[in-house]
Amino acid sequence: MVKHARKVALRISIIYIIIGAVWILISDNISRTLAQGRFEVYIFFQQYKGWFFILATGIILYGLVYRRAYKLVESQQELVVKEHELQTSNQHYQSLFKHNPDGVFEISKTGEVLLANPEGEAIVGYSSEELQKMKPSALIAAEEFDMCKEYFKEVLNGKGAKFEMNVINRKRERRLLRCSLLPIIVHKQVVGVFMIARDITTYRQDEELMITSEKMSVIGQMAGAVAHEIRNPLTSLKGFVQVMQASKETNDTYLDIMMSEIDRINLISSEMLILGKKQHVSFEKTNLCEILKQVITLMEAQANLNNVSILLKETAKRPIYVSADANQLKQVFINVIKNGVEAIMEKGHITITVEEKDTRALIHFEDNGIGMSQERIEQVGTPFYSTKEAGTGLGLAVCYKIMERHQGTMHFKSGKGKGTTVTIDMPIIERNSRLS
Ligand SMILES: Nc1ncnc2c1ncn2[C@@H]1O[C@H](COP(=O)(O)OP(=O)(O)OP(=O)(O)O)[C@@H](O)[C@H]1O
Ligand SMILES: [Mg+2]
Repeated sequence: MVKHARKVALRISIIYIIIGAVWILISDNISRTLAQGRFEVYIFFQQYKGWFFILATGIILYGLVYRRAYKLVESQQELVVKEHELQTSNQHYQSLFKHNPDGVFEISKTGEVLLANPEGEAIVGYSSEELQKMKPSALIAAEEFDMCKEYFKEVLNGKGAKFEMNVINRKRERRLLRCSLLPIIVHKQVVGVFMIARDITTYRQDEELMITSEKMSVIGQMAGAVAHEIRNPLTSLKGFVQVMQASKETNDTYLDIMMSEIDRINLISSEMLILGKKQHVSFEKTNLCEILKQVITLMEAQANLNNVSILLKETAKRPIYVSADANQLKQVFINVIKNGVEAIMEKGHITITVEEKDTRALIHFEDNGIGMSQERIEQVGTPFYSTKEAGTGLGLAVCYKIMERHQGTMHFKSGKGKGTTVTIDMPIIERNSRLS
């Protein structure tokens, strides 16, 4: 700036000196030429040439200085406007940061927290100053640290990421956060990362409570049919024992039948027990058809009572594995099959087809029940929407929630009197892949 000012001043001075010098050199000749031998005219020019010079250079200097000064004032005004704009945008950013109802954390490229907004400080229970001195590993739940590192690396490459993670707060409590990570890009360079986080611990606990209580209500409804299903083999067992008691002989054929009946009772009761157990939600590599078979074992009781047969068709040549909480996935399948059974008035069937389509597993549950109109299809899944006298209308609402967690979807194809096909779609995981 100073250099530039010096240059301008120097240029003006040089122009002044050059004009002065040129005037000195040529003014006498000009006087002579204009006088054309008349002495008094020559004297007149000689007398006033100094004044003329002052006037001319004054005008030139005025022009030069005016042009420069105008530019200076103009750029100064531009600067004031830019500064105002900068202040406004800074205040916008500050509002977004300070008053955000979600926690906002500014994180360095090496993973340290540099700044947290008031909500962010409240979530973890540490101030920004304290956070600056902490290592990321002191905040993130140990088993999720590697996963978070992977997401962080992705963000440093310029991509955003969305995920859930557990942090340990000041009171040493685990808090579940739904996070979005985004790169801070300045002059096309990633200089850090912003994390926007929402504490969803209570929300998730409530959701869990709803899923569990819905499950317990379904188990309660199934109990009658299951007890009935167990009573039949018990009657035949009793019959065989009585026959053998009377004849005082053992019969191998009877014993084989008795053994298979006992196995079936054992299978049904243990499936019921597993389903009823309160378990922690944990996503594991799960064989989809195994889960379906276990569900069918349980649901056959109710299906038999309603004259419904359940058929499982596997079209995939190899086992399909999905990342799932087995218990919750069972709950979805049970609800869908139960709806199918309830939709069949006298006698019918439910066909379950499992197929592999690219990276997704598709499970179709086709029943030949009463079906649904288009308006009804649009309503299903809305909590408490039920057309049944004893229905809670929570069955499908819970299914949607569970499938959302499994990155899956549910679709209904139906027509009044034409039966219903429910299609569940979820990602397949590779056979050898490890789960986070
Ligand atoms: N396979 C189906 N065939 C016909 N209608 C269905 C089928 N599945 C669901 N529906 C309709 O969707 C509604 C909502 O189902 P949802 O499972 O959420 O609740 P519900 O079955 O009524 O009650 P609950 O599941 O508590 O017993 C049902 O009342 C029924 O009208
Ligand atoms: Mg239902």
